[in-house]
Amino acid sequence: MSVATGTSGATGWSPSSWRGYTAAQQPEWPDDDALAAALRELEGMPPLVFAGESETLTDLLGEVAGGRGFLLHAGDCAESFDAFSADSIRDKLKIILQMAVALGYSTGVPTVKVGRIAGQFAKPRSSATETRDDVELPSFRGDMVNGQAFDPDSRRADPQRLLRGYHQSAATLNLVRAFTKGGFAALSRVHNWNLEFVSSSPEGRRYEALAREIDRAVNFMAACGIVLDDELQLHQVDFYTSHEALLLGYEEALTRRDSLSGSWFDCSAHLVWIGDRTRQLDGAHVEFLSGVQNPIGVKLGPTTRVDEVLGLCERLNPARRPGRLTLVSRMGAGRVRDVLPSLLVAVRDAGHPVVWACDPMHGNTFSHETGVKTRRFDDIMDELRTFFELCGDAGVWPGGVHVELTGENVTECLGGSQEVLDAQLVDRYETQCDPRLNARQALDLAFQVAELLRR
Ligand code: PEP
Ligand code: CO
Repeated sequence: MSVATGTSGATGWSPSSWRGYTAAQQPEWPDDDALAAALRELEGMPPLVFAGESETLTDLLGEVAGGRGFLLHAGDCAESFDAFSADSIRDKLKIILQMAVALGYSTGVPTVKVGRIAGQFAKPRSSATETRDDVELPSFRGDMVNGQAFDPDSRRADPQRLLRGYHQSAATLNLVRAFTKGGFAALSRVHNWNLEFVSSSPEGRRYEALAREIDRAVNFMAACGIVLDDELQLHQVDFYTSHEALLLGYEEALTRRDSLSGSWFDCSAHLVWIGDRTRQLDGAHVEFLSGVQNPIGVKLGPTTRVDEVLGLCERLNPARRPGRLTLVSRMGAGRVRDVLPSLLVAVRDAGHPVVWACDPMHGNTFSHETGVKTRRFDDIMDELRTFFELCGDAGVWPGGVHVELTGENVTECLGGSQEVLDAQLVDRYETQCDPRLNARQALDLAFQVAELLRR
């Protein structure tokens, strides 16, 4: 069983108090001493993000909770140690920036941009082991734990990978900061974000038309004598990092006390979330995240009960600070209508100021006859449309979307306006874990969500 149980009692929160609870989805680390040594080394490393940045994100999400903003949460299902290049990070940023333009420009609602990036290396699995031709090995749990190749050496959990994950997160974040603050994300370069293979598609041309309008608006401001060089907002983008806080030893090692407020922050990312498989109210993940002050998310799958979601709100945000807690509905197109309405109403009636977001990916995954996991673009849009409709019925602001995507021209999800066909799935199926939207599908989705938001 992939469960770690500590010995300390559960009296009062500390960065290590989770060890007194049952932690689901933890790897079997074969060497306790090697794990302890790696975690000690991580404890001595600089934080990846600062408390003040996470606080700012909570404030921005507070605006979203109040219906005055929209959360765009997007990136890889799992980042990879191998597919790690400046170009792939740049292209992921480009598509997220394009989506934000599509969402923000056409709705007038400010978009809060959060990437599944710079730390998204660990995966929960539905089974602890994988069997091929009568050989049973531990499941792949993300590059921060073990390797994907199906052999005993690769599949053994290696704590040195935690350190490599930390260093790759630092390098990725460095590049993200350079791209978003160093001119690349300036509104005057809005045309350059259109990726080559996107620009000739219908959504690429639609984007180009928007970009021309933005150009005209910027030129008009300049003609009015506004000194654009002085307007930081036109030259920089605020972009935040996030990942699933799955490996609690790693998260604990990067948790630091903020010298200004005295509060604890998990400095591995700005926002961290709890997955659908680890959201047990009496579990270690909820205990750990209850004590750090970052904005946090919780994924809610189709088995979620009303008492559970109310318990999570109380436990994770007792002070009821708007923006602290984002609830991410990931029910599946076929289940969302049955499950979500009572949750929306219960949270609303209890007065919890949460952000409600929709992850239309994880409830719509299925095994294709070719053996790969895939998702249909139509199911994804169907769940999103239903989410907006149900939020409307409940009088709740539909606060955001949470999607898995890449800037590359992959063929992992079926459909979209330039349709990926069944026979094409194997052409460029490159994901480490779940099937991602390619950049065209992602932009298409953003335009459709903008329309839903405008209504
Ligand atoms: C994920 O976000 O990659 C994931 C595993 O999601 P969930 O916890 O919703 O299944
Ligand atoms: Co995923």
